[in-house]
Amino acid sequence: MNANIQNVPITLGDRSYSIGIGTGLIEDPQTYAAAPKAATALVVTNTTVAPLYAERLIRALSARYPSVHTVVLPDGEGHKTWQTLNLIFDALLGHGCDRKTVLYALGGGVVGDMTGFAAASYMRGVPFVQVPTTLLAQVDSSVGGKTGINHPLGKNMIGAFYQPQLVVCDLDTLKTLPAGELSAGLAEVIKYGPIADPAFLDWIEVNMDALMARDPVALAYAVKRCCEIKAWVVGQDERESGLRAILNFGHTFGHAIEAGLGYGEWLHGEAVGCGMVMAARLSQRLGLVDEAFVQRLALLTARAGLPVKAPVLDAVDNAGRYLALMRVDKKAEAGEIRFVVIDGVGKAALRGAPDALVREVIDACCA
Ligand code: NAD
Ligand code: GLY
Repeated sequence: MNANIQNVPITLGDRSYSIGIGTGLIEDPQTYAAAPKAATALVVTNTTVAPLYAERLIRALSARYPSVHTVVLPDGEGHKTWQTLNLIFDALLGHGCDRKTVLYALGGGVVGDMTGFAAASYMRGVPFVQVPTTLLAQVDSSVGGKTGINHPLGKNMIGAFYQPQLVVCDLDTLKTLPAGELSAGLAEVIKYGPIADPAFLDWIEVNMDALMARDPVALAYAVKRCCEIKAWVVGQDERESGLRAILNFGHTFGHAIEAGLGYGEWLHGEAVGCGMVMAARLSQRLGLVDEAFVQRLALLTARAGLPVKAPVLDAVDNAGRYLALMRVDKKAEAGEIRFVVIDGVGKAALRGAPDALVREVIDACCA
């Protein structure tokens, strides 16, 4: 047993698994003791992460699997496509991988989402392990089984719910993360406070400087608490028939920003950070929270190095452009946009809002 590891369980019946959080995990063969045994493992990573961590992972896995292959994908959200997904299938088939082959996703959310989707569909399903190397992936995307790719007409529109067998969050990997990516991950960290845990929101406020300075103790606590909250939500609503939608706080406005500016212009986490401020403003206009809460969230988001002023997406009808983009959100029903709003700090709800009010919010947030 590795002494540096803390485990957070995800309880989903026969799809239950554990999230291991700690340091020095990637290179330790014991880390993977709970992963399925097989003749073959395939490590899926990208051109940025491979030179940093692939060798360590492959060495550790070689103690467990007689053959370990690797496929290195191009880096970036723009490559979260069918074409790139096919590179994983090419590698699986090219190496003669059978239905027991275990896929290892080594990288951020893009690699994790694509590897999970490949695992869900190769030979109708093979096991996979998440080894997330960004803060965003450690606190959110590697946990809970949402997998998929983008379509030119919508983000994450093609995918499957498919749980990993194990998640390994090695905090050491966060040392090499670019500053902007750390901030993007902090957006998802902040998210968990308003939606579920007022005490955690207080903790983030006190510890934001330490998080920005990559203090290992602060990062370890943040990753663990976020995973616990996500485990609690996913354990009750794996397939998002209700409660799980609260994890999308800030994402409805955020997805409109990402799509409206063009994918890659703002990082996903940057758009979510700004989107949370917009959703907080909407909550305030709906009478659910006070002005002080909006100011508090905006200040915290700015301290995380994230934008809080929304971008103008259309010079002629900006609010109309936001509304059109938000109508293709997965939470929309029969064309009605549904927002995650904060109904008192620590409690989130999903609801619609009149277009006129949403227009006012967009105008206020872009000003
Ligand atoms: P990402 O995967 O693009 O990684 C960000 C950048 O950091 C990339 O250039 C990557 O190569 C690089 N990188 C990764 N680890 C590194 C490290 N340790 N050191 C240096 N560089 C490193 O982006 P992300 O923010 O991790 O994930 C965003 C994606 O996750 C989006 O596609 C989003 O839709 C998805 N997502 C999915 C879920 C889910 O529940 N499945 C939740 C949230 C987000
Ligand atoms: N990131 C949102 C979810 O996992 O549901």
